Amino acid sequence: MRIFVTGSSGFIGFHLSKKLLEKGHTVHGFDSMNKYYDVKLKKARLKILKEYKKFFFTKNKLENKKILSQSILKFKPKAIIHLAAQAGVRYSIENPNAYMDSNITGTYNVIELAKKINIKHLLIASSSSVYGANKKLPFVEIDKTETQLSIYAATKKSTESIAHAYSNLWKIPITMLRFFTVYGPWGRPDMALFKFTKGIINKKKIDIYNNGKMYRDFTFIDDVVDGIVELINKAPNKNQLGKIKNDSLSSVAPFRILNIGNTKKVFLLDFINELEKQLGKKAIRNYMALQKGDVKITVSDTTLLRKITKYKPKINYKSGIKKFLEWYLFYYKIYNK
Ligand SMILES: NC(=O)c1ccc[n+]([C@@H]2O[C@H](COP(=O)([O-])OP(=O)(O)OC[C@H]3O[C@@H](n4cnc5c(N)ncnc54)[C@H](O)[C@@H]3O)[C@@H](O)[C@H]2O)c1
Repeated sequence: MRIFVTGSSGFIGFHLSKKLLEKGHTVHGFDSMNKYYDVKLKKARLKILKEYKKFFFTKNKLENKKILSQSILKFKPKAIIHLAAQAGVRYSIENPNAYMDSNITGTYNVIELAKKINIKHLLIASSSSVYGANKKLPFVEIDKTETQLSIYAATKKSTESIAHAYSNLWKIPITMLRFFTVYGPWGRPDMALFKFTKGIINKKKIDIYNNGKMYRDFTFIDDVVDGIVELINKAPNKNQLGKIKNDSLSSVAPFRILNIGNTKKVFLLDFINELEKQLGKKAIRNYMALQKGDVKITVSDTTLLRKITKYKPKINYKSGIKKFLEWYLFYYKIYNK
């Protein structure tokens, strides 16, 4: 299959593209390689993808409609997996512009092109952060999502609405993927596990928000990738209406929202204790207040995904941390030589 992946040099996009290439698919990656975090890490991921003969790549911004259009029209993908976005909750409070450009305009451009080429399936990254101030746990796709707490979350919610309207008007099959705190090898330097590991190793203070009284549904990257791969051939369509209990399938459009999470809520301090144990080093803890825009608890219900695919998360946080550390220690040791 010919699959177009935006954000292919990013954390999830890299792992997904690699998996698709290993399975024999042809992948066209698209990424601006922006400087939000260490570009060397993005370049190293891209270098690995470029070793595959069936990998093609365009370096540009989604906002550059002309280039995006040329890449997609020429490649003629059967599916588009749109992962490129300005991620990060805290950064979005200081830099809302980057989110409007990448997440709103960028996603709009991708959807327009998907429409133009009559895409068989468009999968778009959303986020668990759209559940915002919801109190009912675990989060289910059909729960109301009216109370986003950050600009990041608001842009993700907006793309869900825009995608639904397009899906309704032009019957574009679209699946929105609500990811829950994804972590693992080649992970994002702005996320907790990476920052904590770096801090502990370098004997620097680590910031722990809300005094550590937070819970996250930490989801290992391989589980996320398996979930996405399984979904590519499961485009939503109206014949499925009413077949699955609590389906988020729209009543008017081939549009569905799916959680991809591990389904367990992990106490942040337990997560840090485990990391210290595995590193054999103590963290210098800087307990802080809850940060603006942060959600205290996230936990997914993935019943719907399990009904549609064979999805079953395999990696718990302890083995996930182990796999991350194996990569981190190896990668940075080589890197620093
Ligand atoms: N990692 C998580 O825990 C998580 C959780 C929820 C949702 N998500 C979503 O999943 C997707 C992938 O996340 P990730 O963790 O791999 O992030 P990432 O930042 O590692 O990857 C995103 C990639 O997109 C590229 N990009 C950003 N803006 C672009 C633009 N305007 N044009 C072209 N390329 C651009 C970046 O250079 C980067 O390589 C994002 O949409 C993110 O919002 C991630």
